[in-house]
Amino acid sequence: MAIETASLPLPPSADASKFAEFGREVKGVNPGTLTPEQFKEIEQLLYKHSALLFRDVDLSPEQQYALTKAFDPTSESYGHGNNKTGETKKSILHPDLKTIPRVPQVQLIGNGTVYDHEGLAEAKLKHPSHKSFHKTRVSDEDEAKGVTRFYRWHIDAALYDLSPPKVTTLYGLTVPRGDKQVCRYDDGTGDELEVPLGTTVFVSGKTMFEILPPELKSLAVRSKVKYSPHPYVWMAPAHAKSTGLGIETEGLEMPRDELPPWEESKIKVYPVLWKNPVTGGLHFQVHPCGVSEVFVDPLPEGAKREGALYPDGAHLTNLGEVRELLYKMQRPAIAPNLVYPHDWHEKDLVLFHNRGVLHSVVGAFAPNQVRAFHQCNLAASDDPVGPNAEDVKQWA
Ligand SMILES: [Fe+2]
Repeated sequence: MAIETASLPLPPSADASKFAEFGREVKGVNPGTLTPEQFKEIEQLLYKHSALLFRDVDLSPEQQYALTKAFDPTSESYGHGNNKTGETKKSILHPDLKTIPRVPQVQLIGNGTVYDHEGLAEAKLKHPSHKSFHKTRVSDEDEAKGVTRFYRWHIDAALYDLSPPKVTTLYGLTVPRGDKQVCRYDDGTGDELEVPLGTTVFVSGKTMFEILPPELKSLAVRSKVKYSPHPYVWMAPAHAKSTGLGIETEGLEMPRDELPPWEESKIKVYPVLWKNPVTGGLHFQVHPCGVSEVFVDPLPEGAKREGALYPDGAHLTNLGEVRELLYKMQRPAIAPNLVYPHDWHEKDLVLFHNRGVLHSVVGAFAPNQVRAFHQCNLAASDDPVGPNAEDVKQWA
């Protein structure tokens, strides 16, 4: 059977015109046993459409690792380094990840207690809650009515020493069904989004760039962000915005001299826009929580200076200013009509282009609602590529 594709099921909240290229359901192949030719086709589809869904899949951790690795054959360690996340007790990611002993690149994530699972006698899982991360919280009363929030918009990446994974695979094994929830932005806009219980939400980094006004497109194409050393340890004492899109500036980040040992050469400086290896499109790929500085290149020769931001270039080091600027550029793209909330069913496998989308966990489970997912991504063998000279000429 040839590989067939269909559109992803969009909720009524989504602006279908903005999702014409985003996401495909793939039918007619078993993702655990792809031939090299089939894999090539899947790889092209993924970079073109940013997210692929396979339904009713049986996939062992070994098969999931092999599939993930096929996108970057020389990559080996988990996106945050094998077993490292658990050891770095101070990291904000510490409680969220449990490793499958046989295949340490595959993580067990979810909620509730899972017994005798792939070599783990007992794993206590906890779905991340905005209540332990955001500065403000949904009241217990509203939560009981099904109100929730985006937890943290992000790219799967260590953002220090290791390079951002190209692809993440997420496989839903146990998916509790429950009432829909309402994801509230609580940022004064009145924005809210109806979501399935325990959804994973995605936005396109390409759309994030495309909807910007010209002066912010010019800024994006000329800018790079510098991440903090050990960003997840650095941000651990701080609190997030109510939209989960970055951190409030309260001066709570861990001081540099209290971080685990770090080296300047391992700090990551990445372009704001990452070039898609298949389509050549530019995706706005910034993990807002971890950024500490922004570098802006001056306008290229011949570019229009009128209305341009930082026409002579800049190096922004004021954390509040850095975050305000990134938020201004990223917030439009998480508007309710631009979010794809995946409605998980058991045995769904979702592959996403981690260098082309931002995603977030959403929702709140009761302690007895058991959810078990396998997640795999691999620290990449190279760093993302930014805009080329032609892109800068076109957009600056
Ligand atoms: Fe993630």
